[in-house]
Amino acid sequence: MKIVWVTSEAVPFAKTGGLADVSGALPEALAARGHDLYVIMPYYPQQFAKLDLTFDSSYNLLDIPLGNETKWAAVRIKKIRKGLTYCFIEYNRFFDRPTLYDWNGQEYPDNAERFIFFSRAAMQTISALRLNPDILHLNDWHCALCAVYLKSLLYSGNPAFRNCRSVITIHNIGYQGIFDKFNILLTGLGWEYFNYGCLEFHDQLNLLKGGIMCADKVNTVSKTYAEEILTPEYGFALDPALQYCMKQGKLRGILNGIDVSEWDPEKDPLLPQNFTAQDLTGKAICKQALQKRFGLPLKAKTPLFGVISRLAYQKGLDVFAAALEEMLAENDFQFILIGSGDPSLQQWFKLLAEKYPQKLAIFIGYAQNKDSHLLEAGADFFVMPSRYEPCGLNQMYSMRYGTLPIVRCTGGLADTVINYDPEKINTSTGFVLHELHTESLRNTIRWAADVFRKKTEHITLMRKNGMNTDFSWDHTASLYEEMYHDAHQ
Ligand code: ADP
Ligand code: GLC
Repeated sequence: MKIVWVTSEAVPFAKTGGLADVSGALPEALAARGHDLYVIMPYYPQQFAKLDLTFDSSYNLLDIPLGNETKWAAVRIKKIRKGLTYCFIEYNRFFDRPTLYDWNGQEYPDNAERFIFFSRAAMQTISALRLNPDILHLNDWHCALCAVYLKSLLYSGNPAFRNCRSVITIHNIGYQGIFDKFNILLTGLGWEYFNYGCLEFHDQLNLLKGGIMCADKVNTVSKTYAEEILTPEYGFALDPALQYCMKQGKLRGILNGIDVSEWDPEKDPLLPQNFTAQDLTGKAICKQALQKRFGLPLKAKTPLFGVISRLAYQKGLDVFAAALEEMLAENDFQFILIGSGDPSLQQWFKLLAEKYPQKLAIFIGYAQNKDSHLLEAGADFFVMPSRYEPCGLNQMYSMRYGTLPIVRCTGGLADTVINYDPEKINTSTGFVLHELHTESLRNTIRWAADVFRKKTEHITLMRKNGMNTDFSWDHTASLYEEMYHDAHQ
């Protein structure tokens, strides 16, 4: 099939979270299975600067209608390998920014304009390059509008889309692209699209909703999350729209994979020593190197808990921060946190790290790969107490590196981590809590530490179980293929 994958971020070009990991890996996996993939994303000069990119060709005058005007952009084309080509939309007024979506926690005020533009630019690129895709695969709100365009008179008669069906993947329903309704004037679509069955949402414009309503298939990134978003608790007010999709047989959950060649403890060049499930000696050396790197005492027998995360409400790290102080005061534990986001949470962790420098080390900001890999490999446990988690990748990276995840039972975390049960030690892979409260999180962390001290053989078995689990993209890619075929039924 010819598949056009549209995304606002992809590894290694630009990343704020898991969407970039998935956009970097899944098109690769599909191309490896013989499909012809085009990835369309913005060209972000500030993020691309250190990559030293060269392009194979350019399409220099792409016209993009935006409101009453026409903007002119360039498409930079780069063939990565057979079956995988990137098309970067270059338009500096919108994409030459220090960060992708926001600055100091504040969304850029022109985000509606930026991503309506990007969606229209993706459609114009497909048309100009005559890509004739079988599948237009959209990701999250930034490009959701493409599904509306495809069904609209603007593109339904365009020969470049003759055989095209659209699919949208919801990576996080907490972000929908909700804007003032008058932004519809920028889209080129008439007010007839501003209705309950399309882009209208409480008298505002909701780009993700339009995508969900118009796409031929909708999926999210785990089975449990696909069920959760049908409820008011998790649906962020789109649960009625998703219920409607469900009834039409349009909605499904497909668990993400991870890039098992990038995250491979046996070969990872970023680790001071490699290790395998059969021989975990290298992991102890990684722990030591991690403690050294973050300035903590080199203590092999002290349980070390790691976190790498956006500091966003979704991730439940406010509860973790509240649980932390008592443990730092009372227990012989070590914690390392890498994160950025919520300024007050950053401040809270800073104060705690200053008060307990022997037990808590933090890095506020976006860490280098080297540090993320070292933390995944060197920690004993990885804490992810998310309020909701569509899939979550770090718990899988952790398991691959023999680090036991401590997670709340939600979304993809529920689908990937099997709670410790001494009776079922051959299948256990981590520690699972149900209610997100300070006390329950503290108890779970203390429980894990207790097992670490008293039942070393159980910890070792669980590490091996996680390391032997197959999280590769290959199986996932076949489920996407199935969805693409169903979209054509
Ligand atoms: P989400 O996409 O919701 O942030 P995921 O678990 O799917 O959650 O993916 C997060 C990705 O972003 C992981 O690859 C994680 O390592 C990375 N990440 C998050 N915050 C940071 C940070 N401050 N520094 C480095 N990597 C980070
Ligand atoms: C989102 C979700 C995360 C998921 C990622 C990739 O950012 O928050 O749970 O793993 O997308 O699908």
